[in-house]
Amino acid sequence: MKISVIGAGYVGLTTAACLAEIGHSVRCADNDEAKLNMLRNGQMPFFEPHLEEVLSRNCKAGRLQFESPVSAVTGAEAIFICVGTPPLDNGEADLSAVANVARTIAQYTTGYCLVIEKSTVPVQTGQQLKRHLQLYARNELRCDLVSNPEFLREGSAIHDFFHPDRIVIGVEREEVATQLREIYRPILEQTFQCPVHAECTHTQKPAWIVTDTNSSELIKHASNSFLAMKISFINMVADLCEAVGADVTKVALGMGMDPRIGPAFLNPGIGFGGFCFPKDVQAFVRIASQAGCDFSLLKEVENINKRRVAHVVEKVRKELWVIRGRKIAVWGLAFKPNTDDVRFAPAIELLHALVHEGATVSAYDPQATEKARAVFPDARYCASPYEAARDAEAILIVTEWEEFRQIDWQRLRAVVDRPLIFDGRNTLDATELTRHGFHYISVGRPPVMSESTGSGEGTPASSPVEGERVADAR
Ligand code: UGA
Repeated sequence: MKISVIGAGYVGLTTAACLAEIGHSVRCADNDEAKLNMLRNGQMPFFEPHLEEVLSRNCKAGRLQFESPVSAVTGAEAIFICVGTPPLDNGEADLSAVANVARTIAQYTTGYCLVIEKSTVPVQTGQQLKRHLQLYARNELRCDLVSNPEFLREGSAIHDFFHPDRIVIGVEREEVATQLREIYRPILEQTFQCPVHAECTHTQKPAWIVTDTNSSELIKHASNSFLAMKISFINMVADLCEAVGADVTKVALGMGMDPRIGPAFLNPGIGFGGFCFPKDVQAFVRIASQAGCDFSLLKEVENINKRRVAHVVEKVRKELWVIRGRKIAVWGLAFKPNTDDVRFAPAIELLHALVHEGATVSAYDPQATEKARAVFPDARYCASPYEAARDAEAILIVTEWEEFRQIDWQRLRAVVDRPLIFDGRNTLDATELTRHGFHYISVGRPPVMSESTGSGEGTPASSPVEGERVADAR
């Protein structure tokens, strides 16, 4: 099938590369000519594990080309719309890019084609899209509209594309689903060897869900909002655990054993970020309100998330007493590991807050430094976690990169001014850290004093005086 993918962002580029990998002839388009040239030259506009190798293999095999939107829609049999839908000031999704693509399709397609909406869009966008396509069509437009929301996660996008839990298709006529089924057949039947993980043993076939377009569009927003709700819920439980001296890890374990709850997305931390959850929750509240439903539950999910960074800053203040003039290291800038994406990343908000408070901030991330520097130039960006931690009075871990679990704690201990770690993602081993003389404060669990201070596990949050004792004990 001649497939075109419009939009070369995280979703579009992954979709284009993976559809080519399963044998389709794919043209990927973007308005940004500079980005297209980068891709033609084998350069990546962002970091996503395994994407570069899949792109490169399929470009070399002639299955994947980069073209302008006009050229890509001409002669296409299936067009995936994967352009961004960023939030407007009022929280609504900005659909101007989707509308522009619709106009291009209406004017330049030749013959019958499937128009597949993959961008995250408000419910009833499909209906609008159909109207728009008809309105701008040069001749009689023969097309079917499909909603096919994407559920892949940044950082594991390639694996998620090949092994989805479900493929959701929203159609106006049942027969159209058959055409989509043909596109996804190798994935539905799991008939291929995972091209990026030779050791991958995943064989579970995804669920195939065919529904109407409105329901399909709602499935995407409802899913992301529900996951965000789980995170805000566990973050509140974590705050409660801190207040009463309980351990959120044990609480989450006990809750997650109930199959009706499940263990996933019960990791507390500094809050959810990225270009999906914050904007999708906001948009879903707005969509509901426009339909006359007050989704106040989700407003609270947002509010809880907005308070996470301030909560961490308060914990730091409690320990350091004053933040002004203190040297603080921030480890992790991307909104999650295995990506260089800093959009709506809690780390960027934290940098703003700490610098605003008068701290001197040194930051490190294995991948996201340049993107962070572009949006927040007022920190000192370092080439290693050790360099960022030099002379620091506190290290704040914001993203749970694997690299942070492999740190040489003895080496780190020698460079810091004060051995104090705030683990904003509960990613480190407290016993290991305290053995090396660090005072360890995590989320929703009692702080753990270093063995050298002799304070033992379960000590309540220390006062500034106790903090100084940690420093003295070096
Ligand atoms: C999310 C969804 O998981 C995907 O299914 C969806 O396709 C995507 O949005 C999208 O709409 O495009 P993504 O934003 O890449 O994917 O990342 P997640 O792994 O879902 O993490 C989102 C945020 O939640 C991160 O900041 C992460 O640190 C945070 N999180 C996640 C927690 O704080 N606790 C958890 O237990 C899980």
